[in-house]
Parts: sequence; structure tokens; C-alpha cells
Amino acid sequence: MEHDIEKVLYSGEKIAEAVKKLGEQITREYKGKVPVLLCVLKGASLFFADLIREIKLQCEVDFIIAKSYGMSSQTSGKLRILKEPDVEIAGRDVIVVEDILDTAVTLSALLHTLSEKQPASLKVAVFLDKNLGYKKPVNADYTCFISENEFLVGYGLDYAERYRNLPYVGVLKRDIYQN
Ligand code: PRP
Repeated sequence: MEHDIEKVLYSGEKIAEAVKKLGEQITREYKGKVPVLLCVLKGASLFFADLIREIKLQCEVDFIIAKSYGMSSQTSGKLRILKEPDVEIAGRDVIVVEDILDTAVTLSALLHTLSEKQPASLKVAVFLDKNLGYKKPVNADYTCFISENEFLVGYGLDYAERYRNLPYVGVLKRDIYQN
């Protein structure tokens, strides 16, 4: 698995530092509130688990399963929601937790669906925002890293469902996904 990685972009230590900082910011900004943290599975699972432990507030957690890539490295452009949140969203302060913003097609469709449930507030925390050089349909409120447009895997990010368990974010070698 490690042999398929061209270079490590963000080490485990660098990630932990950035996630802690973000947790502290959310703790400050949501003081006196009980936010609902909504993890967008599967990619955000590692980031989510680390982030919620850095938020020193009462909060609730829930999970949503959203897919737009499947087994391909290209977005299908369509969002499929395979699991809706169980928590009542109406009137709550919701923070959607995503692993990556690429085309932002997923997030845009997700925010549209969630806003129809009338939350009191709706914000987005993204682990990694890709700097694609064009305007995204929606932006994140909180971001850990901004990166160039490389094929990244690890810390929840996959290629064809693999590499999610790498404890760092790395660039996948081209020959792995360009066959
Ligand atoms: C990935 C990722 C984001 C989305 C970002 O999800 O987790 O949800 O793609 O891409 P976009 O900004 O171009 O829409 P994917 O559909 O691969 O599912 P996964 O989370 O299970 O990996």
C-alpha cells in the first residue's frame, strides 16, 4: 500500500495539529450552543472522529452517507444519499463535516437538501479544500488544509475504496489510477 504513494503531503502530526486548532475555533464559536455534527461518510470518518474529540462542548453526532464518485476517479455529478440523519435537524445548529471539497458538487447538493430541513444554522467543516482555480458552487466555513489538484488518498480519502486507512494524506502514483 505505501509503495503506491508518490509523496506524503500531510503527516499524521501535521494533521493532528490542524484538527486541534479547528476544534478550538469551533469550541469558541459555538460556546453556549449544542451543535449537531454531521459526518458525511465514508471519507470524513477519520477527520470526524478526531475533530469531535477536539470540540470541548456538549454536542450531538450523526451520520449521512452520500456518494458521488463510486469506484471512479471522476465525479458522476450526481449525489446519492444512502442514509439520512436520524437527529431532528429543524432548529439545530448543524455543522456538516466533509473530508474533501473537489468540484463541491457533493457539498452543494447536500447543503440544499439539509437547508430544506430548516436548521437554525448550517456550516461546513472540510478537512481539505482543493485549489482548483475556478469558483466552487459553495464554500466551506472551516478548512484544515488547502491543496493543489493532485490525486490524494489517506486519512479517510480513498481511491476505489482503498487507502482510507493511511494515517497521513499522500499523493497517489499516477500509474495506479491511469491504467
Ligand atoms: C468524496 C468525498 C466528498 C466528495 C468530494 O465522496 O468524501 O464527499 O467526494 O467531491 P466533490 O467536491 O467533487 O463533490 P465519495 O462520493 O467518493 O464517497 P466517500 O466519502 O465514501 O469516499
